[in-house]
Amino acid sequence: MLVTLNEVLKEAYEQKWAVGAFNTVNLSSIRAVIDAAEALKQPVILQHAQIHEAIAPLAVIGPVMLEMAKKAEVPVCVHLDHGEDIDYLLQAMEMGFTSVMYDGSKLDYDENVANTRVVTEAAAPLGVSVEAELGRVLRPEGGGEPDPQEETLAPEDMYTRPDEAAAFAAATGVDALAIAFGTAHGVYTAEPKLDFDRIAQIRQAVKLPLVMHGGSGVGDEDFKKAIAAGITKVNYFTYMSMAGGQAVRDFISANAHREDIRFDEMAEVARAAMEDHVKHAIGIFMKSSL
Ligand code: G3H
Ligand code: ZN
Repeated sequence: MLVTLNEVLKEAYEQKWAVGAFNTVNLSSIRAVIDAAEALKQPVILQHAQIHEAIAPLAVIGPVMLEMAKKAEVPVCVHLDHGEDIDYLLQAMEMGFTSVMYDGSKLDYDENVANTRVVTEAAAPLGVSVEAELGRVLRPEGGGEPDPQEETLAPEDMYTRPDEAAAFAAATGVDALAIAFGTAHGVYTAEPKLDFDRIAQIRQAVKLPLVMHGGSGVGDEDFKKAIAAGITKVNYFTYMSMAGGQAVRDFISANAHREDIRFDEMAEVARAAMEDHVKHAIGIFMKSSL
């Protein structure tokens, strides 16, 4: 059943658990995420990041995500992740996406507010939910090279400030806010050190569902602490995709003697491994595990 971000996060926000949001760049990953959510009878968020346009154009993958969400036995939100171009977000809204994220985190505060406001005004009449970002989650989405500037910045320069977050939420009318408190996109090179007090202060100031980006590589106990402090949506991609990659690697090693290995076999091996990985992640975020 297709639902909005507001609908899928409402109960989780009130009860302090979290909904997993997984980037799905192909049919194998869409199926893996929905199968995992259905097996656990949990709501879930399928998301498409603008950075993945080259490997999965929105116009092609979007209708598949929507169709699979409508047919699912659990509530599924279909969300546009890290949209930096407003036209791209409008395309997703017109297609039927029930939620979009405008990512103006690289802009200065006033420009981020102004652009986010354009998105919330366009989304409201369509009943589409809006997430925005304030602060700097380390490394860009998609696992690119870190911005050299990050090395020189102190946490205070990068992390979301509670007072500014409250002003941003009031000025933009967003439904959920992505915040920076020590997570990074992609593979962690050192164990993440998360500022849980900051999450709690922002939740108190903003009173909206807060979003953790860069979920891959965060330990299970840290997830639980972050959720207890106020995270309601966890964005997760890299380690799910790597679980599929590792399964294919193992499959090829185990079948090295065969000359007839088919791609559809490898895709199925990857799908099954990603389903298991997503089940574990949702199992950490869901109400009964906290
Ligand atoms: O927006 C998507 C993410 O923040 C995913 O981050 O690939 O590090 O899990 P990740
Ligand atoms: Zn992200």
